[in-house]
Amino acid sequence: MSGPIPYAMVGGGVGSFIGGVHRHAIDLDGRARLVAGAFSSTGERSVESGRALGVDPERAYGSYADLIAGESGRDDRPVFVVIVTPNDMHFPVARACLRGGLHVVCDKPFTITSAEARELEGLARERGLLCAVTYNYSGYPMVREARARVAGGEIGRVRKVYAEYHQGWLATDLESSGQKQASWRTDPDRAGVGGSLGDIGTHAEQLVRFVTGLEIGSVAADLSSFVGGRVLDDDASVLMRLSEGAKGTLTCSQVCVGEANGLSLRVYGESGGLSWRQERPEQLEMTRSDGSRTVLCRGGEGLSEYTAAATRLPGGHPEGFIEAFGNLYRGVCDVLSGDGDSLLARPLPCARDGEAGMRFVEACVESAKRDSEWTSV
Ligand SMILES: NC(=O)c1ccc[n+]([C@@H]2O[C@H](COP(=O)([O-])OP(=O)(O)OC[C@H]3O[C@@H](n4cnc5c(N)ncnc54)[C@H](O)[C@@H]3O)[C@@H](O)[C@H]2O)c1
Repeated sequence: MSGPIPYAMVGGGVGSFIGGVHRHAIDLDGRARLVAGAFSSTGERSVESGRALGVDPERAYGSYADLIAGESGRDDRPVFVVIVTPNDMHFPVARACLRGGLHVVCDKPFTITSAEARELEGLARERGLLCAVTYNYSGYPMVREARARVAGGEIGRVRKVYAEYHQGWLATDLESSGQKQASWRTDPDRAGVGGSLGDIGTHAEQLVRFVTGLEIGSVAADLSSFVGGRVLDDDASVLMRLSEGAKGTLTCSQVCVGEANGLSLRVYGESGGLSWRQERPEQLEMTRSDGSRTVLCRGGEGLSEYTAAATRLPGGHPEGFIEAFGNLYRGVCDVLSGDGDSLLARPLPCARDGEAGMRFVEACVESAKRDSEWTSV
């Protein structure tokens, strides 16, 4: 294909959060171009958003079904669709896109249930289409370095993993004020069975699997809804039994007052440890049994080719959230351009990971219902 790959977006209208991040991330490399969208749930608002984004008003649709039908006959139709709606719409939109022969890039949590996730995974496989899930933290260079070092045996066999994602923005009953992002995230019909678990716990869960290469076999979870009247969890503590005998703990919370996006991962093997924090994403700490502690910096020497491929600027010129997202999109564009073996496409978080995330959330909810009984994922 010559020129930027045409793409469409569902969700991401005026006043929304993550749709704009996806667009900026894609624009970093100019390898894809927004041509159409169903940006909001009404035609009027969708056209308004489309206009602000420079999309032809005829190609700003009032629903995803109209988008797929309206674009299907065009020579310049989108090749992939980015889904950035609240969680409950991910499944119907992704299914319709895949059935219509369109590749999909969907935000997390992938779906509302693991059964839906399995259906999408099967559909994408059957049709030979890409179904990527934007677990964007795996796009950070120093997360990729951690993965490369674990895979290269630099810390020995993994024994213990600590994953945390702590926020404080839902420490009060924000949803009652009508705040949009809080309202749907605390509504089980729109968010799914997990509150903080689905919203941010899935990021931590994917990070554990991405960096260690291990699977989460079973969980014992304790969930709380600290804010009165809230149905879904706003805090979770999870013990995990990982493959190959490793153990882990994962905590996620949206009531840790003062915390913004406190995502961190620490991995300890038989001979060393690795520690990464998303609020200081340019650094990866490595500990060794001799007591030494080395701070590895993005852009520095001695990092893997896998990390170098995800690096845009010289060290000391900070890269962050948008660049990490952009790295996932580099992988997406590589795959769609026939280079599925590129360093950024290996591995690209996809439907299988989204499905694992949904199984994790469901297992935690089931465990918590039975007084934190160990539950298979
Ligand atoms: N990867 C990340 O770091 C990250 C961060 C934030 C949000 N997310 C995920 O992204 C998704 C969106 O989150 P957000 O915070 O941007 O939400 P938001 O409420 O800010 O935006 C949602 C957008 O979807 C639109 N929308 C709603 N229903 C629609 C429909 N039927 N058809 C078309 N558009 C529709 C809304 O009008 C709005 O523009 C969620 O699944 C969320 O979990 C991921």
